Amino acid sequence: MLIGEKTRLRLVEEEDLAQLVAWRNEPSIWAGFFNKFPLSLGGQKEWYARLMQDPTRRFFMICTVATGEAIGTIALEALDFANGSVEIGNVLIGQPAYLGAGYAKEAIELLLALCFLRLNLNRVYLHVYADNARAIGLYRAVGFRDEGLLREAYYEGGGYKDGLVLSLLRREYSPREVAA
Ligand SMILES: CC(C)(COP(=O)(O)OP(=O)(O)OC[C@H]1O[C@@H](n2cnc3c(N)ncnc32)[C@H](O)[C@@H]1OP(=O)(O)O)[C@@H](O)C(=O)NCCC(=O)NCCS
Repeated sequence: MLIGEKTRLRLVEEEDLAQLVAWRNEPSIWAGFFNKFPLSLGGQKEWYARLMQDPTRRFFMICTVATGEAIGTIALEALDFANGSVEIGNVLIGQPAYLGAGYAKEAIELLLALCFLRLNLNRVYLHVYADNARAIGLYRAVGFRDEGLLREAYYEGGGYKDGLVLSLLRREYSPREVAA
């Protein structure tokens, strides 16, 4: 179990899938993601079956330490031990009462500790819409650096949008006192 001061991460279970569908279909959350179609429970079950077979991915539920309630998600994707790299994805806080309260920040810090201090990885990166100021502010706040602009990489809302790649290398990483 990955536990911080107020946030803990656990792996997703089949029982979580209906909650994931509800969160990901919420317009304010969907706007931050790259998928074009809404999610269905049937589709999520197929996704979950593939996830369980895929050693390059780990999908976590962000929970509160206080109550254990699941409030969001975060994932490791494209885990690549040969090159020492991994992508962070699916970062969301789905319970509005917990937005802006530092849970997402601590969830990323817990994953960074896992990546650098346990998995011996060297590079953690992520992709985000270049206009997602809130998410970018969060990633920069935990130490990610801008790596490159993906010009007009995404078509959304009738026009093209830029993407941003951010990354953090192990030598740039300074662990906060969070348990891994
Ligand atoms: C992105 C998201 C997960 C952030 O969640 P959150 O609850 O606001 O995050 P936190 O409270 O943990 O954020 C803390 C840090 O983010 C930064 N931040 C938060 N809101 C910000 C804003 N509006 N602008 C800039 N930076 C911001 C701050 O640096 C803050 O750290 P500080 O309080 O120590 O200064 C949330 O807004 C969300 O679920 N968005 C919809 C889905 C999405 O777009 N996900 C990203 C896909 S790439």
